[in-house]
Amino acid sequence: MDGNGRWAQKRHMPRSVGHIKGAAGVKALVEYCAKLGVKYLTLFAFSTENWSRPADEVSTLMGLFVQYLEKEMSALAAAGVRLKVIGDVAGFAPDLQQRIHAAGAATANNTAITLCVAANYGGRWDVLHAVQNWQAANPQQSVTELTEAALAQHLSTANMPEVDLLIRTGGEQRISNFLLWQSAYAELYFTDVLWPDFDQAELLKALASYAQRTRRFGLTTEQLA
Ligand code: IPE
Ligand code: MG
Repeated sequence: MDGNGRWAQKRHMPRSVGHIKGAAGVKALVEYCAKLGVKYLTLFAFSTENWSRPADEVSTLMGLFVQYLEKEMSALAAAGVRLKVIGDVAGFAPDLQQRIHAAGAATANNTAITLCVAANYGGRWDVLHAVQNWQAANPQQSVTELTEAALAQHLSTANMPEVDLLIRTGGEQRISNFLLWQSAYAELYFTDVLWPDFDQAELLKALASYAQRTRRFGLTTEQLA
């Protein structure tokens, strides 16, 4: 979800206004995804690197996160949304951690769509953490016995499918430490549209682009026929 700051600055408003506008559009997009049959939507809300932003911006983002869990989550829960937060949640203030756990527990049995929010998340952190967790769970085994499938089971996305379509808004064409392992075969979609302007029509454009891709997963076209 990139481009909130620029969206606001273009309007001569503080960056925080862009974050507020960006967060305000999330609910409608999640519900629209559920309607379209998307089963998993992961939003990159806050990276491990974002802590280095100015303190007031970090606190705006934290405040929005708390507000979101408090206000919008009940409507999303009613719409059948299951919330899963991935990332180093222990890095957040205790009350935010508690809200994250409560929202996850309250929506655990919902099935319309899984809304995965990557918060204090980094792809490298995820892989490193998975290796450490695997070793802790298998103290007798040597790391030479670790397989890709076993590692995947210790990622923050264990039991979730890999990324099919990765959308980046805001004109930048890079991954920026998002779901690195999980995006190995993701189709990439980059758009100049700033996140607060990324609406249902923009989502449909991304899905239409995805629908035209041929996913070969390393095979030849003939093999897929
Ligand atoms: C949102 O957009 C990303 C978050 C950390 C929530 P940005 O804040 O990166 O906006 P730009 O890139 O400065 O426009
Ligand atoms: Mg940005």
